[in-house]
Amino acid sequence: MDYQLDLNWPEFIEKYWQKRPVLLKRGFTHFIDPLSPDELAGLAMENEVDSRLVSHDSGNWQVRHGPFTDYDHLGDHNWSLLVQAVNHWHAPSAALMQPFRGLPDWRTDDLMVSFSVPGGGVGPHLDQYDVFIIQGAGRRRWRVGDKVPMQQHCPHPDLLQVAPFDAIIDEETEAGDILYIPPGFPHEGFSLESSLNYSVGFRAPSGRELLSSFADYVLANELGGQRYSDPQVATRRDPSQILPAELDGIRQMMLDLVNQPAHFGPWFGEFISQSRHELDIAPPEPPYQPDEVYDLLSQGEPLRRLGGLRVVTLGDAVYVNGESFTSAHPQALHALANKLTLRGEDFAGALDDPSFLAQLAALINSGYWYLDDEA
Ligand code: SIN
Ligand code: CO
Repeated sequence: MDYQLDLNWPEFIEKYWQKRPVLLKRGFTHFIDPLSPDELAGLAMENEVDSRLVSHDSGNWQVRHGPFTDYDHLGDHNWSLLVQAVNHWHAPSAALMQPFRGLPDWRTDDLMVSFSVPGGGVGPHLDQYDVFIIQGAGRRRWRVGDKVPMQQHCPHPDLLQVAPFDAIIDEETEAGDILYIPPGFPHEGFSLESSLNYSVGFRAPSGRELLSSFADYVLANELGGQRYSDPQVATRRDPSQILPAELDGIRQMMLDLVNQPAHFGPWFGEFISQSRHELDIAPPEPPYQPDEVYDLLSQGEPLRRLGGLRVVTLGDAVYVNGESFTSAHPQALHALANKLTLRGEDFAGALDDPSFLAQLAALINSGYWYLDDEA
């Protein structure tokens, strides 16, 4: 299904993005759910899929983690099943992320899908990331409060909530409505009837993550071997002192390490092209020979990107799941980064070059892209 979102992105960014929440009433017209509650329940039975059941009873909250073996114990009210990264496991659901490519790919994360029975929800809480919550089947009451400093507490060790808040948005959502919530705005959704919600989540690395990943890169690439030196070391009355100029020298050493364009870009490309959730990688068996890839693409077979695979472009390089690629055919390489489904003509003649074809066959044989004839 091709989901069309009629949204003026520059206007949306100017007014709302990272600034204030908004309900985009009927953001999707004639919305059709990409999956059923039963399919979602089935996904939450898989080992690789990250899922949880959140329920409450007289103010007592329970969280159980998947994989689940059955759902027999659940009543008709007050529970919600939440499944992370559904775009990795269910191609029709992945299509729901496409309309949000008005924002850069590197900022997006995953599609979380929830199914809630009446009264179901995860309670009032904050998220650290921007999210677009799409209402599918059913109706839900969504409340969003203003961003003010708020104490968080845990009614269950695996559940972080905030105290009740005054709403600046309080609406019943119905199929196709999209609620945008920037980080830090408290919100809660209570289902009025059995309902499906799709959360397109964004990703914003913290300084801690960046530093830790950069340190890993430094170690893996054996950078930063140079040592502190002080041929003019200053003598001091109190030898216990570290002088301000010495601290500046240490800081400069660290900044110099970060300030290497030949490494900073490649590190970030590798870092940000890695998914935070497991991918459904299934390399084709037997692997494709390059000439088979050529034939299939020439016959008009579509080549599709694995759901959740992160592909970003930085300068001439394209980063795929933490690996960098360059090519004598930058246009073809960039088509791989830009388009989620490709046809032979998208490669602009590059398929005639055996080295590009071999590179493409290797990507397909890694399970990162697939040809429909595998299905
Ligand atoms: C949901 O319950 O579907 C979304 C949870 C959230 O507010 O993040
Ligand atoms: Co939330």
